[in-house]
Amino acid sequence: MNPYMQQVIETAQFIRKRIHADPEYGLVTGTGLAVCAEAFEPIASIPYRETPHFPFSTLSGHPGRIQFGSTSGKQIIVMQGRCHLYEGYSPGQVVFPIRVMQELGVRILILSNAAGGVNPQYHSGDILIITDHINLTGSNPLAGPNEDHWGVRFPDMGLAYDPQLIRLAATVSADLKIPIKMGVYAGLHGPSLETPAEIRYLRLIGADAVGFSTVHETIAAVHARMAVLGISIITNVHNPEKPEPTTVEAVISVAEKAGPSLSKLIRTILLSF
Ligand code: HPA
Repeated sequence: MNPYMQQVIETAQFIRKRIHADPEYGLVTGTGLAVCAEAFEPIASIPYRETPHFPFSTLSGHPGRIQFGSTSGKQIIVMQGRCHLYEGYSPGQVVFPIRVMQELGVRILILSNAAGGVNPQYHSGDILIITDHINLTGSNPLAGPNEDHWGVRFPDMGLAYDPQLIRLAATVSADLKIPIKMGVYAGLHGPSLETPAEIRYLRLIGADAVGFSTVHETIAAVHARMAVLGISIITNVHNPEKPEPTTVEAVISVAEKAGPSLSKLIRTILLSF
């Protein structure tokens, strides 16, 4: 067995021993969004550092914990914090938690992130349901020999973000009176933020939001035949005609403010599924 798969299996076994369950739902919380784990009654908590082989982020806004919880009998594993390509992690390391969730039996995966607004109609604090993505990272987590046990060589990406989950998110947000946007997320390598020319380019190619995560996780999850729901908090909106500086503190602060609404939305989506 290849060493990467061996590590994934060992990590999944370690977690299974600690949580005594096979959760069907998974959630990854992005920058400043760790509070979303509180939407579920906690059952177990495992720091990434105590989890064998687990990559962890060194950034603020990413606590680095596995939380296992439930709501109305639905079991969910939450990855509180993720690692990124720009920290020097490989695509394989970035999707390691997704492969572990696959081994644990996760079928429905919610990916959340903080993102920059590219669409000029967006406002800071908006919640965006991701309808599609553009992978501009220059890499793909499926490069290399295909693991047939995990998925097919050429996974179809036509419905990468599950239409049923997108419809459900729209219905639930209307019921809860939490406004949402729907749009396309462009995933870049980072860590430098976008130049005005890059923002004009992203608009031209059909992107509504931009960030440094999620696209690899979605690719691995589609390969794993999971249904994916992607949600961004728009923490800053780019105006290429009048560029304004963005700071990580501002990004975290806007994301944290949106956390409670996002938690409510995610919890209600899971309950309605
Ligand atoms: N660019 C990339 N990633 C981000 C941004 C941005 O403007 N805002 C929050 N995450």
